[in-house]
Amino acid sequence: MRIYECADYKAMSRRAASLIAAQVLLKPDCVLGLATGSTPIGLYDQLTEWYQKGDLSFAKVRSVNLDEYLGLAPTHEQSYRYFMQHNLFDRIDIPAESTHVLNGLAQDPDAECAAYDQLIRDLGGVDMQLLGMGHNGHIAFNEPGDDFGLGTHVVELAERTIDANQRFFASRDEVPRKALSMGIKSIMGARRILMVVSGADKAESLCKAVTGPVTNEVPASVLQLHPDVTIVGDTAALSKLKEAGVPVCG
Ligand code: GLP
Repeated sequence: MRIYECADYKAMSRRAASLIAAQVLLKPDCVLGLATGSTPIGLYDQLTEWYQKGDLSFAKVRSVNLDEYLGLAPTHEQSYRYFMQHNLFDRIDIPAESTHVLNGLAQDPDAECAAYDQLIRDLGGVDMQLLGMGHNGHIAFNEPGDDFGLGTHVVELAERTIDANQRFFASRDEVPRKALSMGIKSIMGARRILMVVSGADKAESLCKAVTGPVTNEVPASVLQLHPDVTIVGDTAALSKLKEAGVPVCG
């Protein structure tokens, strides 16, 4: 596991974007696993800027997103499909048919999840999976206590996740209670994992994920078992890790 420390959110976004750009330059037809949440927005802005300058093309890239709220249409402003269109896909040259996000309106959510795992296999697996991390250490929508052996599946959101995500909705009642999410098994199948973490409010969970036991009570702790993980964090997010004596690169 490599851990990079960046002074602030902007520097973290730039560093993480450069790692994704390197992946795309090395393998233009790579499969990128993409994430939502507020943390990756800055890196999507940076990738867009490099595309607009002509330094980077996504014309051959294929993408799969981690998760989607159950019950939200792709046109709903808080759906993750809408987020991806708005923050990245509509701003770069990735073909629409190369982008994949779980369908929150699927008639049969379990069948949608099984088809998504098959899609990932058909694409040849994920070359680089981008992750954010929730305050309780969740990755994608794999909440504390969820089984590490699951592929894409329907999840019940934890109360803390509903609390954290209500800021995007008009009221807490409007936050969906369920989602479709790639499971830990699907995420661990990626050849390379890049996790971005920002802010002091994630420092404790990040420290547990990196230095604590591998336990489904802290879903991100499973990353200790993956052979190629890079964490890019700002100084605030890495503060507890550094106090614990974990070496980080500048
Ligand atoms: C949601 C997403 C996760 C994301 C998390 C943290 O729960 N499903 O993929 O990592 O939020 O979001 P933020 O980056 O806004 O803290």
